[in-house]
Amino acid sequence: MDRIRITGGNELHGIIPISGAKNAALPLMIASLLTDDTLTLENVPHLADVEQLIRILGNHGADISVNGRRERQGESYARTIHFTCRNIVDTTAPYELVSKMRASFWVIGPLLAREGRARVSLPGGCAIGTRPVDLFIEGLAALGANIEIDSGYINATAPIGGLIGARYVFPKVSVGATHVMMMAATLANGTTTIGNAAREPEVVDLANCLNAMGAKITGAGTSTITIDGVTSLSGARHRVLPDRIETGTYAMAVAMTGGDVILEGTDASLLDTALEAIRRAGAEITPTETGIRVYRNGGGIKPVDVVTDPFPGFPTDLQAQFMGLMTRSSGVSHITETIFENRFMHVQELARLGARITLSGQTAKIEGVPRLKGAPVMATDLRASVSLVIAGLVAEGDTMVSRVYHLDRGFERLEEKLTRCGAIVERVTD
Ligand code: UD1
Repeated sequence: MDRIRITGGNELHGIIPISGAKNAALPLMIASLLTDDTLTLENVPHLADVEQLIRILGNHGADISVNGRRERQGESYARTIHFTCRNIVDTTAPYELVSKMRASFWVIGPLLAREGRARVSLPGGCAIGTRPVDLFIEGLAALGANIEIDSGYINATAPIGGLIGARYVFPKVSVGATHVMMMAATLANGTTTIGNAAREPEVVDLANCLNAMGAKITGAGTSTITIDGVTSLSGARHRVLPDRIETGTYAMAVAMTGGDVILEGTDASLLDTALEAIRRAGAEITPTETGIRVYRNGGGIKPVDVVTDPFPGFPTDLQAQFMGLMTRSSGVSHITETIFENRFMHVQELARLGARITLSGQTAKIEGVPRLKGAPVMATDLRASVSLVIAGLVAEGDTMVSRVYHLDRGFERLEEKLTRCGAIVERVTD
């Protein structure tokens, strides 16, 4: 099993190309099930989760071709992928496929809308809380679906004649449930209004793509989304938006090590709250023509308190990385996690590097230390694992991160991107 060895101490200088967003690419790929025409997605990141979803969509009947000639973007390679699902050959998403990645559960929306039925295994994914599916069930039921849970599977059927537009207000903000309800409602009879919808940029990206396919969606990016159902969707060509979590992660890495890096091909407006927190910690951040410049020279890292929240708040997906950064601050900071109840598994691993963190309920108190020391650590989930990389970049000596398959789910060519900027990061294959 691969591990990553980081030898700490180097500043980061150079250019890091930002990939297409994993969390946008996944729902966009799933949207291809809504049409018998070809959906072409550009700027798709090369990640384990994308490959897994390709297998899942293939199982439902999608014909998928990846452009042999990769599109050169800076020093990274974005891929263009064509998805054509002329017929849905199977409306079941089996446990073996769905258990590996929670987002694959989202196929329930398009399958139900297009075929009138879906049998989808209850999901797996990162172990960061209980992550129930009640909001999906209630949302789809509001559209008239009949839903039963049987032997670990959700069996959903639409009324004869298809799903029926409705007004539904989510009791809690959910990115995935918003994606699914929006996709399902595109082919419903009549108008659907989703209240308390997620406002994440990835929801807007999905709505833009669905509209390019012929859907009639307004309000994405606000908490009320309206969808006028249409009888069919066509193909389209759509470019996946830049990954704001990858952007924030590398910005925090530069804030940690010091140095001067251009994050290329990204957009500061996707992560204002997180960039503001990094600025307050002492890094300078300026938008450039092609992305964002992050630099920190001389001054130390200041303590900053953050609370995670749905967009436009501080993203839970950057909480672990920010904690990594705060381990070296010059004082005491507090990080409160409000989205997932069990998202502090990185705390004990950061402690192995010498971090001083105490947990009280959903709040972590981080007492900054003047130095961290390299140690063997274990990646526990996707975002937690990269917080260990950030800490390892300044730890004295070697930090060996095991279980890096978590990293490979969400960070494209991480070691290459960091190494090109002067870090010593090496993948070790046993
Ligand atoms: C998505 C992101 C993930 C991010 C999360 C929150 C993708 C592929 N994943 O995950 O990286 O951390 O948004 O920004 O885009 N909940 C329920 N019932 C439900 C559904 C959700 O109680 O039916 C709860 C969850 O347990 C969690 C909260 O709602 O506490 C938010 O989860 P949600 O927004 O649904 O996260 P995901 O869409 O799974």
